[in-house]
Amino acid sequence: MASQAATADSGASGGISRREFLYYIWGASIALVALQGAGLLVWFLIPRFREGEFGGTFTVSVDSLPPINATPANYAEGRFWLVNLDTTQPNDLMYQAPDEPNPIQGVAAIYKVCTHLGCIYSWTPTNNRFECPCHGSKYRLDGRRVESPAPRTLDRFLIQAVADDETTVLAEANLTNDFYDPLVLPSGTAFIRVDTGTRKNGPSQELLCNFQGNCP
Ligand code: FES
Repeated sequence: MASQAATADSGASGGISRREFLYYIWGASIALVALQGAGLLVWFLIPRFREGEFGGTFTVSVDSLPPINATPANYAEGRFWLVNLDTTQPNDLMYQAPDEPNPIQGVAAIYKVCTHLGCIYSWTPTNNRFECPCHGSKYRLDGRRVESPAPRTLDRFLIQAVADDETTVLAEANLTNDFYDPLVLPSGTAFIRVDTGTRKNGPSQELLCNFQGNCP
């Protein structure tokens, strides 16, 4: 009898027992779950965007920045415009509104997507502003909305001023009300770094056309 029970537990003589088989299945399941977890961790830790592609960072020489208060520079691969602003200097493109008490100075990286319904807008030289072809929203050189239906100012990306070793960060754009201020470049800046993975929504400021009395 004892030998019959031992045979039943071991299944077939010379093979593995049912219990051993279940242990193997259980162990394999644990290993599979652990492998899946490790794979997910690696996927999460590996950066999904590389430098120079949208979602990553772009390093731009200061030599290729637009001059102060000049028309914006288009960085199509990064989906942003670079603008260089200073309202203390007389100019035709960048003006200060009555509700803006402080001068607007520095470099900003502006996302190329309209804040209304996401169309790609462009700079219109004849009108000295950004204009959206879809529903007519208009924006000043620094991205502040001039005319609706845009609900807010254009979004901006984080920018940093970087020394000529391309590593040392000399300054970074400040946040005011959770929106990036233009960055005044400190002396020694050789590059700016634009992080298109770090974007702040533009604020819902009053329409600039309200001050000009020519809203539609
Ligand atoms: S998407 Fe630009 S105005 Fe509507």
